[in-house]
Amino acid sequence: MKRYSMFITTVLMMAVLRPMHAQKFEGIALTPPMGWNSWNKFACDVNEGLIRIAADVMDTSGMKDAGYQYIVIDDCWQGKRDSLGFIHPDPQRFPSGIKALADYVHSKGLKFGIYSCAGLQTCGGHPASRGHEYQDALMYAQWGVDYLKYDWCNTDGLNAVGAYTTMRDALYAAGRPIVFSLCEWGNNEPWKWAKDVGHLWRTTGDITACFDCEQNHGTWSSWGVMKIVEMHPGIRVYAGTGHWNDPDMLEVGNGMSINEDRAHFSLWCMLAAPLMSGNDLSAMSTWTKEILTNTEVIAIDQDSLGVQGYRYDSKDSIEIWVKPLMKDGWAVCFLNRSMQKQKVDYDWSKNIITDELSKRTLNTNETKYNIRNLWVKKYIGTTKKKLTAEIASHDVLMVRLSK
Ligand code: GLA
Repeated sequence: MKRYSMFITTVLMMAVLRPMHAQKFEGIALTPPMGWNSWNKFACDVNEGLIRIAADVMDTSGMKDAGYQYIVIDDCWQGKRDSLGFIHPDPQRFPSGIKALADYVHSKGLKFGIYSCAGLQTCGGHPASRGHEYQDALMYAQWGVDYLKYDWCNTDGLNAVGAYTTMRDALYAAGRPIVFSLCEWGNNEPWKWAKDVGHLWRTTGDITACFDCEQNHGTWSSWGVMKIVEMHPGIRVYAGTGHWNDPDMLEVGNGMSINEDRAHFSLWCMLAAPLMSGNDLSAMSTWTKEILTNTEVIAIDQDSLGVQGYRYDSKDSIEIWVKPLMKDGWAVCFLNRSMQKQKVDYDWSKNIITDELSKRTLNTNETKYNIRNLWVKKYIGTTKKKLTAEIASHDVLMVRLSK
């Protein structure tokens, strides 16, 4: 009898102590995350005032209404670890602490994100999470963090799958649902393994605000919009609801021409990319705001079918991008890559498009679609007639086809 009760006690203890099955948080980032991140414009020049202003403007400018949610502090918020190893923010830049800042962001009906790195130090040389994963995850949960961008600097000898899975497990153990954004620049082909680790993964090195340039920094380069779009063709099959390819944050409003900003934003929406604005929200021009808050274009990105678009054709410097949408709809984006304006003369009936991934076919001989110009916000006829238009240099004509 005594033996029997000991056995029962042991089994019960094992059941209680059994580590819970670690996984990523499901049910979040079901469409590509939308928000703002400090890095592209402010780099290490971050402080709590700046973040509060970003939250204020997000709330009042129409961006929140257009779907932007996350306010994310990128690198350089960190101060030191205490004697127990817990991380604290830089006391000069964040004197009120991160919890107070997260509370403020939440009070605006927004969500709050933060940054760390799998190495010993972040890319900016601040304390990072290696060896402190569970402690950091606990701290983030206590602060009220909703989103973590996790970088890959100073990780010599680390295994990427292992390092990112450790942080995933730490976040899960801490118990607060946090969107997990992997940022290892596509080095280890995360699209092949990160579906169950995070909600989005960077596919390339850093973006820079130019249309088609490479900016050489010695040991690494940052890349213009078109360079990024051209890297890793074929990875669209790995993206879907709750797990997205991330071609990096937006450079809209950071120095390209209006046409280029519009093309950049349109392509990111065609790619079902996360839409993390990266400009100075408090000094947005009317144009920048119009681009970032065009809800009809955003709806293409956020479409619940969750299928990443692709380049269907390219002729005379006009590229044609397509994206299948819910309710048998399609988005089609004509991009003029040349330095001159170009004419488009497109016969829908001669272009029957089949997407093997979504098993969808666009056949205008069988179905007539209404065409909506998403930047002009007007219906411009049906697919029974040829589409003729002129597109300015580095600009797009983006339309939605619906039955
Ligand atoms: C890396 C990332 C960037 C940014 C910086 C911060 O370069 O790719 O997006 O987070 O680090 O130092």
